[in-house]
Amino acid sequence: MSAEGAAAPAGYPDELKRLVDAYLEELKFPGHEVVPGLVEAMRYSLLAGGKRIRPVLAMATARALGHDAERVLPLAAALEMIHTYSLIHDDLPAMDDDDLRRGQKTLHKKSGEAVAILAGDCLYAEAFALVLSTDAHDPTALVKAASILARATGVDGMVGGQFIDVQETATEGIEGLEVLHGLKTGRLISASTDCVTALLDAPKQEGESIGAYARELGLLFQIVDDILDVTGTDESLGKKPGADQDKRTFVSELGLDGAREMAHLHHGLAIAAIEQMGDEATELRVIADHVLTRTS
Ligand code: IPE
Ligand code: IPE
Ligand code: MG
Ligand code: MG
Ligand code: MG
Repeated sequence: MSAEGAAAPAGYPDELKRLVDAYLEELKFPGHEVVPGLVEAMRYSLLAGGKRIRPVLAMATARALGHDAERVLPLAAALEMIHTYSLIHDDLPAMDDDDLRRGQKTLHKKSGEAVAILAGDCLYAEAFALVLSTDAHDPTALVKAASILARATGVDGMVGGQFIDVQETATEGIEGLEVLHGLKTGRLISASTDCVTALLDAPKQEGESIGAYARELGLLFQIVDDILDVTGTDESLGKKPGADQDKRTFVSELGLDGAREMAHLHHGLAIAAIEQMGDEATELRVIADHVLTRTS
């Protein structure tokens, strides 16, 4: 069953997903012939599937701003590489100790912890190399986008959020959870739109609207992740449900119905944030619907 209790998931911009999947499949890493095992490990996790929400969001943002999705493909791919690194490390025994990811054995289960740590490290480095090695953008805009991406994954970003999560130092109540998840999950989702608005030098108003949309989407995404941790199955999720049952989650704080209500609230706020935008923002709306109703 989907997180919001309805059966039918909304559509998803499959065409954008196919674009990024093909780009990632073709991606070459200079010097790969010296360390084929490392590249094989990176590709094992990167190409295992996954919803590709972050790159799809980046490309839908480009379209919402009147640009071709292809213009931001390297950035979109980099977002997915960074996300994949975060999953590889998140699954390690020292973190969540999970055996299943994207419908297959976690990388450390398949190839050992050392390889998993190094493959994650390398995906992160290669992501920035990819973003910075394009000459298709104004250099100032490119540095700004890269800096947003780096910040979103650092102290005040994804790794900071993971630290709060594993150390269990989130403050009491929903506010504490919102801070934790805003960092852990929300910052990379926001970066998926903010890097694009910076790279394409979006008009201030549109940049702010899409930024507000992405902040709501990030929260919605994690609320649904917590709901699916309770209602999903191995087959539907490609990872073990129940992994977060000893943790504080939106479900543990609010119950299933309360979490679903909160998901609907933030979906509505995401849609409202881009209300002023026209048809070119349709894919952003479809992504928000998909995140609310997703089952995987
Ligand atoms: C899972 O991310 C981890 C969270 C941030 C909640 P996704 O649900 O986007 O995982 P994939 O990329 O589809 O495997
Ligand atoms: C992981 O959060 C978030 C990051 C990898 C940054 P979770 O630990 O809840 O993700 P899942 O449930 O393992 O996918
Ligand atoms: Mg975790
Ligand atoms: Mg986990
Ligand atoms: Mg989870």
